[in-house]
Amino acid sequence: MIATKVRGRVGPGVNQVGLSRAHILSSIEGSLRRLGLDYVDLYQIHGFDPVTPIEETVLALDDVVRSGKARYVGFSNLPAWVASKALTFAAQHGLARFQSAQVYYSIAGRDIEREVAPMCQAERVAILPWSPLAGGLLSGKFDPDKKGPADSRRASFDFPPVNMERLPRVLAALHKVADATGASVARVALAWQLTRPFVTSIIIGAKRKDQLVDNIAAAGLRLSAEHVKALDEASALPIEYPGWMVEFQNARDPRGAARTPTEAEVRAAADRLK
Ligand SMILES: NC(=O)c1ccc[n+]([C@@H]2O[C@H](COP(=O)([O-])OP(=O)(O)OC[C@H]3O[C@@H](n4cnc5c(N)ncnc54)[C@H](OP(=O)(O)O)[C@@H]3O)[C@@H](O)[C@H]2O)c1
Repeated sequence: MIATKVRGRVGPGVNQVGLSRAHILSSIEGSLRRLGLDYVDLYQIHGFDPVTPIEETVLALDDVVRSGKARYVGFSNLPAWVASKALTFAAQHGLARFQSAQVYYSIAGRDIEREVAPMCQAERVAILPWSPLAGGLLSGKFDPDKKGPADSRRASFDFPPVNMERLPRVLAALHKVADATGASVARVALAWQLTRPFVTSIIIGAKRKDQLVDNIAAAGLRLSAEHVKALDEASALPIEYPGWMVEFQNARDPRGAARTPTEAEVRAAADRLK
């Protein structure tokens, strides 16, 4: 499968960046020319363009698909509300819709679980996480202070950002499961990600062949329920609004829950509000 993206600046002009009709239609031509192809399988918008209405972008992407230059379209790095607006507009007008979401997700950065992942599940959009090892930080080479080998990428390129308060617990849990299973820390981090029901396929990164082999082997590593639970707990996000209100109201009102909450769950939800 061949996928590419559009949004980044490719020249000095006002239409050589962003997600305007002009830039999308010229960019797909440029990509096909450079790749020597007639079409790509997946054409993705690389992020949010604050100056172009999302409807203009969706219409231009539909033209790209109808002209046969891309089979499918997807998004990357959009807020959930923007992607949702685009999906609704495409559905209302019978246009090509986003089929995939290329988003940052790792055991040290579970932010998409708040809005993007539930939206994608509801809309049946495939999730393709990028930087699943947080740029190498979760590869087993780094200590909780982010100190690691000087020749590692993360040492010179400190990206993507991670929550430093939660990182030590996450690294400790990864090392514990790696020791227990005999798998590398990187493989455990990727295998954990594959247990998430909303993850469709992970975009792995590897600098060397042995890393590639190690990462691909994550697909064959089955973590026990106990190990998954330990990793989940060590990396859980703090609950935020409206998440805590949704939980609180539904814990008190069994109509909104899949089952009647236990006394302990109701008390826990109330305690979180104190
Ligand atoms: N849509 C977007 O905005 C966006 C943004 C960023 C990336 N991406 C995509 O996501 C892909 C993956 O991102 P990423 O490269 O940042 O992935 P990553 O898995 O978070 O980091 C990869 C780095 O981790 C280290 N590593 C990987 N596997 C390892 C292993 N088994 N053992 C030890 N170290 C290992 C290597 O660097 P060292 O050996 O130097 O530590 C490798 O270069 C990119 O190629 C790109 O296509 C998309």
